[in-house]
Amino acid sequence: MRQEFNYTSFDLTSGLPDTWQDQILAAAASAEFRKFPRTPVLTREAKRVAYISRGRVHADQAKQRLPWLYRLYRGRFLELAAGTRTEPVSPALDDRYGLVLNVQQGTSMRFECHVDSNPLTGLLFCTDHPGGSGGELVFAHDPEAADVAAVERDCSAIQPRAGHLIVFDGRKHPHYARPLRSDSDLRVVAVMNFYTASCPESKRPPELNRHLYGEG
Ligand SMILES: [Fe+2]
Repeated sequence: MRQEFNYTSFDLTSGLPDTWQDQILAAAASAEFRKFPRTPVLTREAKRVAYISRGRVHADQAKQRLPWLYRLYRGRFLELAAGTRTEPVSPALDDRYGLVLNVQQGTSMRFECHVDSNPLTGLLFCTDHPGGSGGELVFAHDPEAADVAAVERDCSAIQPRAGHLIVFDGRKHPHYARPLRSDSDLRVVAVMNFYTASCPESKRPPELNRHLYGEG
């Protein structure tokens, strides 16, 4: 059944450290760029898509290079995310996936079409992508959408605005990030997992950690 997509947006442009964007872009420059294999359980890519190219600053690097962002994730951002829910909200206890940076450089990268396992996700957009320049975050209205084409048939597209935090439940809305349209463009977003009492971190699919880290 078709489902409207809801999210909450916070303009934090005046509440971040003065050099926040420079620091994040510096960290993004050290991202690991490669073809990432489709994610078990959660992928909504067509069967023929084995890999999706993109960049990632892994959680340990993000924590080390951007300690203020890590503190915001567990502080102010957590408060804002919790304010959108009626039940208690927690950050991830496991530092391997709590906070990462996703990076797209040029026109050949995008982010995998997938659903989330965590009940609440926070995204801090770190770069601006005005209309027509690509990089939109796209959410399907059809929970059964099984590939990018199906998502695009009926969707909500969000244009990234640097310094804006959005909070959403992505479990029933397959979503992905469109490619950029300029070879020289760069898209960086900080992704944060949150959990709730009704969908705790302990329910995270073990296949995910095995896939990502080779263990449970
Ligand atoms: Fe997601």
